[in-house]
Amino acid sequence: MRIAVTGRKGQLCSALQHLASSQSGIEIVAVGRPDLDLADEPSVRRVLKTVHPDLVVNAAAYTAVDKAEDDREAAQAANALGAGYVAAASAEFGVPILQLSTDYVFDGEMSRPYREEDPTNPLGVYGATKLEGERAVVINPLHAILRTSWVHSPFGPNFVLTMLRLALTRPEIGVISDQIGSPTGALDLADAILRIARKLEGNPRDDRLLGIFHVSSQGWTSWADFASFVFEVSGAEGGPVATVKPISTAEYPTRARRPRDSRLDCGRLRHSYGIELPDWRTGAAETVRRILAGDHLLRT
Ligand SMILES: NC(=O)c1ccc[n+]([C@@H]2O[C@H](COP(=O)([O-])OP(=O)(O)OC[C@H]3O[C@@H](n4cnc5c(N)ncnc54)[C@H](OP(=O)(O)O)[C@@H]3O)[C@@H](O)[C@H]2O)c1
Repeated sequence: MRIAVTGRKGQLCSALQHLASSQSGIEIVAVGRPDLDLADEPSVRRVLKTVHPDLVVNAAAYTAVDKAEDDREAAQAANALGAGYVAAASAEFGVPILQLSTDYVFDGEMSRPYREEDPTNPLGVYGATKLEGERAVVINPLHAILRTSWVHSPFGPNFVLTMLRLALTRPEIGVISDQIGSPTGALDLADAILRIARKLEGNPRDDRLLGIFHVSSQGWTSWADFASFVFEVSGAEGGPVATVKPISTAEYPTRARRPRDSRLDCGRLRHSYGIELPDWRTGAAETVRRILAGDHLLRT
């Protein structure tokens, strides 16, 4: 099965390549800029036509949440229009699309884990443009929209790497304690995606396998407790450690507002696909260990 994945240098695409390299029957073709630019429809069509995939994963996105507030046009081009271009091209070639989306389509006021059918209400440009992307991909009837959250990995910039780097120079780090969600390892997410792809390959028109799915780790935490856990694991491995000072969202103003409680209920994924991601701590510990093992990541 040949899977084209956009976002060649991104965390998820890197994780998919890493995992697939040890699995038989799956070939990942990573595509991205400059050959494929989501903002440029002809480039999307041209590259996907050349790859001739059995399935497309649209993992590329404008993911800079704060920057997007002042760069709506670029965020919209990639996250909304670009998703539509990928969906249109995959529809033309008659293959399914897996579209990555985000917990930030919600406002965080539900006070229980969000289900797929719960009302969306993004608080910022990133979430709003990703939601537009969800709506755009339905142009391909063979679509599965995978909403995930708080992605980390040993492959690119993310919260875990930021914490470990800060701890190299600071004894104490202030981290937000009043936002909760589920940290999700890109490798765990990639594993789920490959299983989804395999199941979809045999049943591409099965309605139970199509539509929106929440795909995040089990359990939840706050950013502050997530950071404390990172340092617990890092300390045990002889890596950098800092004291976490819990702070409120009000004490750490950011350009974009973020949901207070973006926990996702992943029951539909479990029922339809029989897939359950591990507890968030498992993936987080793995990311810390892999970052420490590739010491250069910390120092660059
Ligand atoms: N990271 C998270 O915490 C998180 C949470 C929830 C959902 N998600 C979603 O999960 C997916 C994967 O996230 P990730 O963390 O792997 O993202 P990432 O590491 O930030 O990588 C994003 C990739 O998208 C590419 N990209 C951006 N604009 C593009 C454009 N106009 N044309 C082509 N490529 C473009 C970037 O390419 P360049 O290298 O060329 O810039 C980069 O390779 C995304 O859809 C994201 O919205 C992420």
